[in-house]
Amino acid sequence: MKPALLHLRGISQSFGSLQVLRGIDLSIAAGETLGLIGPNGAGKTSLLNIASGFSRPRAGRVCFQERDITRLGASRRARLGIMRSFQSSRIFPQHSIRHNLGLALRTVRGGAYAWMGGSAALRESLEQADSLIAHSLFRGRGDAPAGALSYGEQRLLDLLISLAPRPPLLLLDEPTAGLSRQEAADAMALLRSAHGSSTAVLVSHDLDLIFEYCDRIAVLNLGELAALGTPEEVRRHEGAQRAYLGSGP
Ligand SMILES: Nc1ncnc2c1ncn2[C@@H]1O[C@H](COP(=O)(O)OP(=O)(O)OP(=O)(O)O)[C@@H](O)[C@H]1O
Ligand SMILES: [Mg+2]
Repeated sequence: MKPALLHLRGISQSFGSLQVLRGIDLSIAAGETLGLIGPNGAGKTSLLNIASGFSRPRAGRVCFQERDITRLGASRRARLGIMRSFQSSRIFPQHSIRHNLGLALRTVRGGAYAWMGGSAALRESLEQADSLIAHSLFRGRGDAPAGALSYGEQRLLDLLISLAPRPPLLLLDEPTAGLSRQEAADAMALLRSAHGSSTAVLVSHDLDLIFEYCDRIAVLNLGELAALGTPEEVRRHEGAQRAYLGSGP
């Protein structure tokens, strides 16, 4: 087993009297893609919020590269390299694809307002954007306005923006929701192209995708870890079957 990049220890969360996470222990190894699945309301998004610093756990600790980061907020964690994707798009529709990507790269490199100045640095980021675009499904379309892309393509551009700075840890909450099969495959191809440099936690209700793509799978049910293992182990796991998989994917 590779060393843990992220370690969640005894994580509990509650909202009022509703306990949504109960003593979750979960390690994410450097370089792996961990699938996080479970029924609606199981606590998947709540766990990603705690891992990314968007909310604090009621109990438990979050460690990243052996450092306790439980008390660090989301922006400090982002600077350490923990990147969380969002359902809503962060794209500027009037800007071109290459500008959206270039601005995102520049912002990550130089702080939140870096895009206001530093034309040489922006030029460098745009060159990097061009190279990323040339190796992606947006090849040849870099100058098109992002707003002209379909919904699915905008989600794919959003994913490319999240992956571009090669964050050490990427937390993806249903990145393929609402995408066609082809677009979901394109999203996975983008993720695969970053594999090796990025570790990812992937939340999805698309079991085919999770079982094909992930190295390990964690099954959450009613705020508890019902199963954890390789796709084969989870497929055979009785608790996982009962909790979520039904007759199996
Ligand atoms: N801010 C909040 N205040 C109150 N209850 C919340 C809050 N956030 C989440 N919950 C509740 O916590 C439980 C877990 O929600 P969560 O969004 O983590 O589930 P999920 O596994 O991501 O579900 P889905 O698959 O539908 O996205 C649900 O019962 C939800 O209603
Ligand atoms: Mg959710």
